[in-house]
Amino acid sequence: MSLDDKLILIVGATGFLGRPVVDMLDHFGFPVRLLTRDPAKAEKIFGKHFDIVKGDIADYESLKEAAKDCFGVHINLKGGPRAKDFDRIENRGTVAIVEAAKERGVSRVTYLSGASVAEDRQWFAPTKAKYNAEQVILNSGLDYAIFRATWFMESLPFFVRDSQATVMGKQPNGIHWLAAEDYARIVAKAYLLDQSPNKILITWGPDEYTFKEALEEFCEIAFPDVKVNNVPLGVLKFFATVTFSKQLKEVLPLMKYFEKFGERGDPTLTDELLGEPQITLEKWSKCFKAKSKAD
Ligand SMILES: NC(=O)c1ccc[n+]([C@@H]2O[C@H](COP(=O)([O-])OP(=O)(O)OC[C@H]3O[C@@H](n4cnc5c(N)ncnc54)[C@H](OP(=O)(O)O)[C@@H]3O)[C@@H](O)[C@H]2O)c1
Repeated sequence: MSLDDKLILIVGATGFLGRPVVDMLDHFGFPVRLLTRDPAKAEKIFGKHFDIVKGDIADYESLKEAAKDCFGVHINLKGGPRAKDFDRIENRGTVAIVEAAKERGVSRVTYLSGASVAEDRQWFAPTKAKYNAEQVILNSGLDYAIFRATWFMESLPFFVRDSQATVMGKQPNGIHWLAAEDYARIVAKAYLLDQSPNKILITWGPDEYTFKEALEEFCEIAFPDVKVNNVPLGVLKFFATVTFSKQLKEVLPLMKYFEKFGERGDPTLTDELLGEPQITLEKWSKCFKAKSKAD
């Protein structure tokens, strides 16, 4: 089968972590179809180069239509903020996508999960939704690759505001920060293989840094005047309440979770099958700086 015949549908293509996968699959030569609830938004992001279809995980017929003639479906969904929304979007969304994919004879499904997803961590709603979504794929009978990806380097700028970089809580755990470009290359390679990986793939970047170390490295290059400080989660919770900051309120449970539970697993298999990530935090930070200057 030539690449031209391997049409890949991306659900969540407009997402922060969907976009690099779209670009990388296109770069490798795969035809790509994007599913979005808002085609105008997708066209603004991607232009007219891609086949953009309107659809929603809550509309089964739209999923079935989108999956027509596809070789693969890549799932990039983000649930929340309430527990029931994690389940509705990531778990039940995946159920619907997998069902539509099966009906359409799709061969391969890939899914972005999370670094700390595990059976014994289902007490945390985001982890539970991802764990359940993984199970849906594992039990689907379809070929698959599930990426338990760690924290992305692209998250770091969100922690820099008004000449201060904030480490939310103590965050003592080491993280193998991953560049979205490396992740996207790994996803594309999973589609290049004739034999699907059919594995849960721990996906880490090349080097380990705590949150504070990563922010210090990033800021030293991209924002040399910015100071990096730890702020206790209790203080941030109070701040979120008095400022009505919805975004901060939503991120705090995740930071509380990661303060205790870090990455889990071993990326050796992923590296062997799909290539080791090459982009270091230093390199990524320099690219970020150059891009910010150009914009
Ligand atoms: N940030 C990290 O460091 C990190 C690390 C590991 C894993 N992850 C995981 O990566 C996943 C993706 O994150 P992200 O930042 O790319 O999320 P995002 O930017 O919020 O994108 C989510 C995507 O989901 C789509 N979507 C939402 N509801 C939908 C619906 N009802 N029907 C169809 N599509 C729907 C949206 O598409 P439209 O709006 O176009 O319809 C959007 O493209 C998350 O689950 C996150 O937990 C993140």
